[in-house]
Amino acid sequence: MTHISTRSLPKAELHLHIEGTLEPEMVFALAEKNGIALPWSSVEELRGLYSFTDLQSFLDLYYAGMAVLQTEDDFAELAGAYLRRAAEQGVRHAELFFDPQAHTTRGIAIDTVIDGLLRALATARSENGITGGLILCFLRDQPVADAMATLESVAARSADLLGVGLDSAEVGYPPSLFEAVFSRARELGLHVVAHAGEEGPPEYVWEALDLLKVERIDHGVRSLEDPLLVERLRRDRIPLTVCPLSNVRLGGVASLDDHALPAMLEAGLVVTVNSDDPAYFGGYIDDNYSAVARALDLDAEQLRAVAAFSVEASFLGADAKATLL
Ligand code: HPA
Ligand code: ZN
Repeated sequence: MTHISTRSLPKAELHLHIEGTLEPEMVFALAEKNGIALPWSSVEELRGLYSFTDLQSFLDLYYAGMAVLQTEDDFAELAGAYLRRAAEQGVRHAELFFDPQAHTTRGIAIDTVIDGLLRALATARSENGITGGLILCFLRDQPVADAMATLESVAARSADLLGVGLDSAEVGYPPSLFEAVFSRARELGLHVVAHAGEEGPPEYVWEALDLLKVERIDHGVRSLEDPLLVERLRRDRIPLTVCPLSNVRLGGVASLDDHALPAMLEAGLVVTVNSDDPAYFGGYIDDNYSAVARALDLDAEQLRAVAAFSVEASFLGADAKATLL
């Protein structure tokens, strides 16, 4: 039985797709404001579709919903709403993923997206003291040339980004495809992370480490299938950004009681808990912390360790980390 409130633990959110914080109410409000026709007749109908069988079934709805995001103000409103909720749940630092290709292919300028998100981060910093930054994710199920063109389109303002990541449909799109893109990102001084081992095999985690030279693995839950990989992750203290409610909702894990989080901690891995796409998966970051605390009977020491790992695994400087530990 755990008795600590995880809400007040200072934590960093390291795996959060900002488009995945788009709640159905905001979908309808922005659709009305922007004059966009939706294929759903009500908030209830849309929310009723949030029962997924796998990653792709979620992604189909995720990409459909974000069509309502049109202006810089829309992106600022989206991120502002998320950052207020995150602050309420004890987040002191948030590294936000965004999917520019899902917007530029709809005719939205990448600067519109970035400027809106940065504005919300600046407001959150002054209003709540929460720090943060942006991680530009490439859509791995789209052509590699589009990823490279996206990166080059922001090269002149790379100082506005913390890093790059890799997301969308995983199986069939191994990290090795993106070796040159990640090499260029590192040359621009950007941090590098990648989704791997969510639905894809341990081999994709090895590729992310050895070819993309990532500093963190997003998800990585399938790493446990490969003892040599677990040893590598442990030895190099490569953080895993685990998203428990997401894993259950997308069917990677049958139920929260079966989640490998305790085994990962037991194996000495730097494991963090995050919310992935909270509007779609039934909870923000502390909902994930409290759900695993309950379902997996984690004690106060384990929960404090996970929160401390999130600060350690962040891209904050040493002084800023020290103030949160
Ligand atoms: N996995 C891969 N791509 C994504 C996800 C995810 O959980 N969420 C948004 N894009
Ligand atoms: Zn994700």
